Amino acid sequence: MAQLIKTIDLNKRFSLPNGDSLHVLKNINMVIDEGKLTILRGRSGSGKTTLMNILAALDFATSGDVIFDNMNISKMSERKRCLLRREKIGFIFQSVALIPTMNAYENVEYMLRLAGIKKHRKELVTEALRMVGLGARMYHMPQELSGGEQQRVATARAIVHKPKIVFADEPTAELDTNTAIQIMKIFKNLTDKEGITIVMATHDVGIMELGHRVYELEDGGFIERE
Ligand SMILES: Nc1ncnc2c1ncn2[C@@H]1O[C@H](COP(=O)(O)OP(=O)(O)O)[C@@H](O)[C@H]1O
Ligand SMILES: [Mg+2]
Repeated sequence: MAQLIKTIDLNKRFSLPNGDSLHVLKNINMVIDEGKLTILRGRSGSGKTTLMNILAALDFATSGDVIFDNMNISKMSERKRCLLRREKIGFIFQSVALIPTMNAYENVEYMLRLAGIKKHRKELVTEALRMVGLGARMYHMPQELSGGEQQRVATARAIVHKPKIVFADEPTAELDTNTAIQIMKIFKNLTDKEGITIVMATHDVGIMELGHRVYELEDGGFIERE
């Protein structure tokens, strides 16, 4: 199976104002398989967001390497890292943050404008909204959509430019259980039917079984489970 990302002995320390340092990630070695759903679980403060930010080239590790699509992004220039994020990565956050004055279609299209993609916008937006099951609600305003539907629009926005990988940071944390399950089914569909790679952080134990691989963070390292 193809590995899209591999980390080698990642460490992350934050320097605190009082001079101490906080060792948040300790020798993290992990692989993310292409076209699969990888779940990163751990309680609040365990380092999930820190790790995802490093994997997604938003932040640097203190030591260690991230190999992304056969490139060592730890040693790349910021300009190249920026291009990589724009072209190959999609992001979904806990707070959906759709633009309230734009309908679903326009919210998704806006992402293409930001990415500077001019060709086939209509086809791309329509396809992305269909993939998340919102083909019939393309012209609804955010306030006319349920919380789960809004998160589906945010998902369409994250996949519209056909990234290699989508990072979803606690995308179900603000949703009720049934709606969260619905979002998880959409993620499963995106990996299994569309071949999209998804890395999702969650503190929820209940949805772990859906992951192709589950990494559980505790005290800065992974708990082994088989
Ligand atoms: N920029 C920062 N400076 C100092 N400490 C940070 C910073 N970002 C995160 N932390 C600390 O690192 C730990 C992990 O945080 P985070 O990755 O956000 O955890 P999670 O996403 O699992 O809730 C926490 O103790 C947090 O306070
Ligand atoms: Mg977090």
